[in-house]
This record gives sequence, C-alpha cells and structure tokens, in this order.
Amino acid sequence: MTGMSRALRFTVALVLGLGLLTWAASLIVSSTTRDWFMKDVRLRGQLAVNGARRALVAHWPDARAVQAILSEITRDERIMAAAACSAGLEQVAATVAYPDRFSCERIGVHVRPRSPRERWASWTSVDSLPGGQVHVSAIPIRDDGSAVGFVVLVQDMSYVGRREAKTQGFLVGAFAILAFSASVLTVLAARLSWRGWTRQMRDLLRGESPRPEFQPILRDVRDLVERLVAEREQEGQGGAWTPERLKQTLNRHLHGERIVVVANREPYIDELREGGEVVTLHPASGLVTALEPVMRACSGVWVAHGSGSADRQTADERGHVRVPPGEESYVVRRVWLSPEEERGYYYGFSNEGLWPLCHLAHTRPIFKSDDWRHYENVNRRFAETVCEEVDSDDPIVLVQDYHFALAPRLIRERLPRATILAFWHIPWPNSERLGICPWRTQLLDGLLGASIVGFHTQMHCNNFVDAVDRYLEARIDRELIGFVYQGRSTLLRAYPISIEWPDHWAESAPPAAECRKSVLADLGLGPEALLGVGVDRLDYTKGVEERFLAVERALELHPDLVGRFTFVQLAAPSRTLIDRYRELNERVEREAARINERFGKDGYRPIILKRVHHEPPAVFRYYRAADVCYVSSLHDGMNLVAKEFVSAREDERGVLVLSHFTGAARELTEALIVNPYDLDEAGEALAVALRMSEIEQRDRMRAMRRYLAEFNVYRWAGRMLGDAARLRRQDRLAIRLGIHAPTENGT
Ligand code: G6P
Repeated sequence: MTGMSRALRFTVALVLGLGLLTWAASLIVSSTTRDWFMKDVRLRGQLAVNGARRALVAHWPDARAVQAILSEITRDERIMAAAACSAGLEQVAATVAYPDRFSCERIGVHVRPRSPRERWASWTSVDSLPGGQVHVSAIPIRDDGSAVGFVVLVQDMSYVGRREAKTQGFLVGAFAILAFSASVLTVLAARLSWRGWTRQMRDLLRGESPRPEFQPILRDVRDLVERLVAEREQEGQGGAWTPERLKQTLNRHLHGERIVVVANREPYIDELREGGEVVTLHPASGLVTALEPVMRACSGVWVAHGSGSADRQTADERGHVRVPPGEESYVVRRVWLSPEEERGYYYGFSNEGLWPLCHLAHTRPIFKSDDWRHYENVNRRFAETVCEEVDSDDPIVLVQDYHFALAPRLIRERLPRATILAFWHIPWPNSERLGICPWRTQLLDGLLGASIVGFHTQMHCNNFVDAVDRYLEARIDRELIGFVYQGRSTLLRAYPISIEWPDHWAESAPPAAECRKSVLADLGLGPEALLGVGVDRLDYTKGVEERFLAVERALELHPDLVGRFTFVQLAAPSRTLIDRYRELNERVEREAARINERFGKDGYRPIILKRVHHEPPAVFRYYRAADVCYVSSLHDGMNLVAKEFVSAREDERGVLVLSHFTGAARELTEALIVNPYDLDEAGEALAVALRMSEIEQRDRMRAMRRYLAEFNVYRWAGRMLGDAARLRRQDRLAIRLGIHAPTENGT
C-alpha cells in the first residue's frame, strides 16, 4: 500500500470517528443546555414574582392594582403574559395577552393542596402555542405563611430552540473544520517533506499568499471567529453604545427591519450656485445633527421636505437620493411642497404657531385656519409617502417633531400594525398655554396615534400628561406611564437626545492649537486674545440679544477684559420669511453695533457677528479655538450645540456657560449654569470662565466628555427601539394567541 492511500484510509476512518463523536456530544450538549435554560426560566419567573410579592399581597384582590403589578412583571422581555388567581381558583386579574387555555381552574389543580396537611406548591410545565413553545409556571403568593392565591407566568421558550440550534451549528462547524484540517494535514504530511511544510508555515505566518490547500481552512477559521465575536457582542449587555451596537440591537430585537423616519428637515440639501454648480449643505438643525448618525448606522428611509434649489435635479423621479454623498448608507425621500403649502404648513402653522406656543420666549403665537388646513394636508401627504416607503404591514416609523403632530394618527389609520414612535424635539407647554391653540385636541389626538410619544425631559412628559387629562377623554395610566385612548394604548417616555460619540466632525477637525491659530488669524485677533463663541440659528429662542448683553455686562464688571475679550457669534439665517425673524436679525445687528461702539477702539470690537451659514468643519474649528462657549437659550428642548462643543474639546480645555432653560443643563452639570436673563450672573460667569485654571477646565470638561461618551445618540435610539421592540413582541404575541393586539384593546 502506498503512503498516499494509507493516508487516505486513515483520513476516512478519522472523519467517521469524529462524526460519531460530534453526534454524541451534540446530544449531551443539547440536553444539558435545555436543563440549564429550564432552570434559568424557572428562576427568572420565581424572582419576578418574589420581587412583586409584597405589592401583590398589599393590593390583593384589587383587580386594577394587581393588573398593574402583572403588567410591570411582563415588562421583562421573555415573560409574555401573567395572571393572578385567588385561592378559590378565580381569576383576579390578567395581562391582555394571557391565553385562555391556562385558566386558573386548570392550573390550580397542580398548585392547590390535595389534603389539609399539604401546602400550596409551585408547578411548572412546557406547553405549545401556535407560535412556539412556552414555559408555564404557577407560583403561590403567601401572606404570613398561608396562600392568598397564585400567579401564573407564561414565558417565551422559542429562544431556547434557537440557541440549541446555534450550539449544534457550532459543534457541527467545529467538527467540519477539525475533520477538514485533519484530512488536509494527513494528506499534506504524506506529500510534503518537512522542509516544504515548514516553508509553507513560514509563508503563512508572514501573511504571504497561502497555498490553495490552506485557503479553505483559513476561511472557515475566520468565519468561526467572526461568528463568535458577533455572538458575544450581541449577548453582551453592557459597554458603550456604538453604531455597531445599535445595528445589533436592531437586528436582534427587530430583525433588522428598515426604519422610516419622517422629519421636515432633510439631512442633505442640494443648492444651485451661480454657474450651475450644485453644492450639498448640512442644515443647522439639532434634529438633523442627532438623527443623521442614527440613520447612517441603521439605514432605511428618511422622508423629508425637498427644500433645496437643486433637490429635484439630484433626486430620481420618485424623489429618492442615496446619502451621505460617497457613502450612501440610507435613502432620503424628498417630498415636494408648493410655495403655498410651504407658507401655510412650515412658515405658518409650524413656525408662527406651534414654535412660539411651545417656547417660553415672549413671542405671540399666530394661528390661522388657512395655515391649519395646509398643516393637515401636508401631514396627510407625508403619511401617504410613508406608506409608499414601508416594506411590511408592521413597519417601524419614527415621526419627528412639531411639524408632524397629526402624522402618527394618519399613519396608524393606514397601517394599523405599525410601531410608531413620535418624538417631539422642542418643549411641550403646560396645558393652560396649550389652550391658546384652537386645534389642541386634534394635535393631541394625532400624537396618540403613536405607540410611544417621547420628549427630552420628564417635565415635558408631565406637561403632556396634564394636557391629555385636560383636553381628551383618555385613561391615564400613571403607573405604566401611558394612555389608553379610543381603545389603543400609547406609552409616554423621556428620552434625552444626544450627539454621536465620537463625533465624526470632531474627529476630522485639526488639533486645537491649529484651529485657534487659524480662527484668530481669520478674525484679525492676536494670539493673546480671549475668545468666546456662540453658534446658533438666528432664532429668538436662542437668547442672542441676552448673550450680547451678558458680554457687555462682563466688560462693565471687569474692565481689564476690554480690549482682550472678543465674542464671535456664528448665526445661521433661519425662517427669514417670518416677520419676527427678520425683526430679530435687525435687533441683533443693532445691539452688536451699539456694544462695539461703546467698547471698541483701535480696531478692537468686542462682538463679531457672522450672519451666514457655516458648514460643520468651520463650526468645529471655532469650537476648538474658543476659551468659552456661551449657550444662552431662553427655552430649548435639549440644545445640541452645548454637547457638540464638549465633543470638540478633545484637548479638555474651554469652558461651557449654559442656560438653565435648556434640556442639556440637566445633563451637563459641570458647565457654568446661568439664568440668561440675569445679566449680572451671566456676565460674571463669562469672566469666571475666562479666568478658570487649566486644571479646573480639564476636570469639568473631562466629566462632561465621559458623560457624553456614555449617553450618546446611539443610546437614545437604542432605548427607543428597545421599547418599540417590546411593544411589537406583545402585539405579535397577542395576534398569535388570537387575541386582539393590546394596542387595539387597551391594557
Ligand atoms: C429645531 C427643530 C428642528 C428644526 C431645527 C431647524 O431644532 O426642533 O425640527 O429642523 O430647529 O429649523 P428649520 O426650520 O431650519 O428646520
């Protein structure tokens, strides 16, 4: 027999032997892991009920209170349904999705003592429902040793099967690799001399192209490693939120379904310049700053108003354009509006009505019925466009901001099974103020078409609850924090928005020293100058006039700053068709001129006002160059300029002076928090910031950077999508069990 055929026979025997071993091992592993999972599920149920025992006993048998506790228990993603049964085997309460077949009477037989000497006992079983296997457990509730009844939990077991299949997949994969490696090694051993073999290995280790025999092994090993890494990352709970983790959350909880975002402002605006050149601009919008990285991570469609002068030219016939330019990770669907529609819906109802209504900034809201009609029509058109873009009857739709209060209801009418998240990026007024709006009921009704309504802060959530209480016939569930309205339920949550971390603009900006040098040169300032920066759309809510007055006060209180301290304001023109904005432009200009007149001499001007749109790379240069950034909003849902300034300061220098009336002030507590109306306080804060020691600057900046690294926009989106996923599971389960969706019945 030749060496070669001996090697082949040996290989066949080896492969058969390993195959047999793998089969036996997979049986053992399967039954052991199933045992573990069963124990795990039992323990999970026991822990959930034990945790709620005190509350259950205290409220027993108050059906409403017990129902609320059961709903709390079923917030655990694997506990699908729960019921509470009395000692007489009557049902006290049950969650909506609770299957009838597990009646108290039927389960009670296993739990109830059969003779007076016996005690109530826990009981578990595995059962099948149309959607897969479930684990049913009954746990007695004891008060002072005697049982008042028992709780039945129905837990999802479908994941056990999935994990078993995965484990077996790994074993078979490992076997295949082992067998293949062994075969190749045997054959190679027969063929290659020791010298040839070592030369192959040397080539491999050096990374030089391996011989064809090795390529399949390497590919398999690489695949296996990649799968293991992905698994570990998916299973891991903690760690920082990254685009990758957000993507995994989407894949894990929502099976990678594509997301549809509806927001008035598009992330990329194509503008026509003289000579026919098209330039792509990044609009100044906190909403865009936050959502754009989320869309880059998740992909999907962003439905927006096509407002750029070259937008039609760069989109296809359906209004689609792939973005970001050069990267093309998601699609923008542009909706075209006529000048009348834009005037009524955008300038009129949204920005002359709702914007001043929601911001406490002393501008009177204007509500006109013509504007309202356009607002309704445009909301309808966007809702229809969403329906054209979805790829299933239960899509995930993120409706953004005050331009689309009616869209959630209109989408719900067309897609009853959709998961709709409505996020309001600006403050929500108290109910008395909301009463100014003649269409307040329609706005609330529209928003309650969503599955979840979100705001930046708890305070705005509270205002919303009060408004629903006052203006709608809705049931408010203060425990679950949500509403049942017209037979559907809507959750209400605070999700403070944030920025991407690390910020890609910050990452690509030049180092701080370089930025400072170039910005000071651009502004005609010497290297010793003290520089303050403000970055805003020119909007009356941003407190730009108060900011200039605070600079003036700082110069009054600290004359040594005169000639040294310069404040540069980057002010992007905004909504300039509205009188109030035009008036603001003039006032800001006048105020800057007055202060410059008062303190300026020999070319020194304390305020430099740049009323022009700056693209993000320029804005980040200013952030990095500044000694202080002052965000003086009179009222602001969040304010992402404050967060961007912190993200820009990798050098851990610079001081943030931040208005108390921003959502960001609740999070960036290491900033110097001021009342922008209190000019003494704000002026003093600017002076303190300019004199702050490097060590204190570093400590404050470091703390804020640490916070933002953790609470970034991926976490914001991940939390919302996680909650959406939980709702979807409940809805799907209810449908599987033949019960109406909980969102259609109320909880
Ligand atoms: C605020 C709103 C956004 C809006 C942005 C810019 O941040 O919450 O929805 O996009 O202002 O305003 P504009 O009217 O230019 O879109």
